[in-house]
Amino acid sequence: MPLVSPSLLSADFGHLERDIKMLNDSQADWYHLDVMDGVFVPNISFGFPVMEAMAKAATKPLDVHLMIERPEKFTAQVAALGAKVMNVHYEACTHLHRVVTGIKEAGMMAGVTLNPHTPVELLTDIIGELDLVMLMSVNPGFGGQKFIHHILEKTKRLRRLIDESGATALIEIDGGVNQTTGQWLVEAGADVLVAGSAVFKAADPQAEIAALKALSR
Ligand code: DX5
Ligand code: ZN
Repeated sequence: MPLVSPSLLSADFGHLERDIKMLNDSQADWYHLDVMDGVFVPNISFGFPVMEAMAKAATKPLDVHLMIERPEKFTAQVAALGAKVMNVHYEACTHLHRVVTGIKEAGMMAGVTLNPHTPVELLTDIIGELDLVMLMSVNPGFGGQKFIHHILEKTKRLRRLIDESGATALIEIDGGVNQTTGQWLVEAGADVLVAGSAVFKAADPQAEIAALKALSR
C-alpha cells in the first residue's frame, strides 16, 4: 500500500481551502507542494504566503518539492512551515551533502529529486544519508504531462541500489501518475505516489485517492 501525496498544483486556487478540506477527509497521506522559480524550471507556481495558508488548512504532513536554484537558502523557512519532507533537486545542488545535512538538522526528512535524465547511480555515495529519493517521471514545471515510460526501469534500479546498500530511503514518483502507471510503479518498488491531475480532475477525487492507496505489489 503506497503513501499517496496529492499535488496541490492541480487544485482550484480560487477554492484552496475547500480542496484542502477535501484532502483532509480523504485517505491522502501527505500534501505535495510544488514550488517553482522560473529559472530551474520554465514556470512559476507559488511561494511562502500561499504555502502558509495551505499549512493552516492542512491536517496532514506537507511534502515540499522545491524546483528552484539554491534551495538551501530556504531550508529554515520550509521547516518553519512545519513541513515533513523537503525535496531538493540533485541538479540544483552543487554541495548536495551539505544541503541534505542542513535539511535533517532542521528536523525534516531529506529528499533528493532526480530529473528524468539523471541516473540513480549518481546517488551511490549519498544514498545512506537520504530519507527519500524522488524520481521525476515528467520534465518538472507543469502538471498534466505524459508519464515517461523508462522511469519504471529506473525505479527498479533505484530499488536495487537502496536494498543492496542497506539504505532506508523511500522512493517517491512524481509526474503522470494515475491508477495504471501507479500499479506499474508500485510493482517496480515505489513507496510514495504523487498525483496532481489524476486526483483533481477526477469526478470523485477521494475515490481516486482511495484507488491509488489500494494498489499493491
Ligand atoms: C511537476 C510537479 C508535479 C505535478 C504533477 O513539475 O512536480 O508534482 O503537480 O502533476 P501530474 O500528477 O498531473 O503529472
Ligand atoms: Zn512535484
